[in-house]
Amino acid sequence: MEMVHVLDHPLLQHKLSILRDENTGVKEFREIVGEVATLMCYEATRDLPLQNVPVQTPVAQAITRQIAGKKLAIVPVLRAGLGMVEGILTLIPSAKVGHIGLFRDPETLQPVKYYCKMPSDIAERDVIILDPMLATGGSAAAAIGFVKEYGVKNIKLMNVLAAPEGIARVHQEHPTVEIYVAAVDEKLNEHGYIVPGLGDAGDRIFGTK
Ligand code: PRP
Ligand code: URA
Repeated sequence: MEMVHVLDHPLLQHKLSILRDENTGVKEFREIVGEVATLMCYEATRDLPLQNVPVQTPVAQAITRQIAGKKLAIVPVLRAGLGMVEGILTLIPSAKVGHIGLFRDPETLQPVKYYCKMPSDIAERDVIILDPMLATGGSAAAAIGFVKEYGVKNIKLMNVLAAPEGIARVHQEHPTVEIYVAAVDEKLNEHGYIVPGLGDAGDRIFGTK
């Protein structure tokens, strides 16, 4: 099974180009992060199981296909992951939403947890963790670990941009987690920023720079 899905659809690549541009302002950046999440959601849900359901159309009885099986939850990693939530709910309005608050210590680059609230039935759901940036992978690996503690079996990770280091770390610590990204960049710089990247995703979504 392919564990890293690089989604190279032209619409995604075009929108990613706008996100990377330092001249893109907060309003447009926020809107496009949401649109990117919607497009990525389309691909990340491609393997959802279907079941046959009879439906009476205006013309005849039909055997149609509807999504079967477990329900979904999405878990944004605060803050920047919040920017992806609405975009996912556009396609899956009944998904429940958990939240994990993590920030990356600027000196040690280690993730620091400050909040965690999950839907009560999270263990029965498939989970997609949302965070625009997968840099060292520390935040994603920690977030996946927290979700696993709740008993969740099927976890996917959705990032807009990743560094090779982050992908390697998630693979090593959580080998069964599939990763969905719009692009894998070249490297991290000495401050742990993705190069060329798009800067600080949280600051650009919320205008806190
Ligand atoms: C950013 C980003 C990820 C993390 C990625 O969050 O949204 O959560 O850094 O870095 P890592 O892969 O090296 O752990 P940040 O710490 O800037 O917090 P914020 O979303 O609150 O701005
Ligand atoms: N977090 C961000 O927001 N951007 C990066 O490039 C790395 C971590």
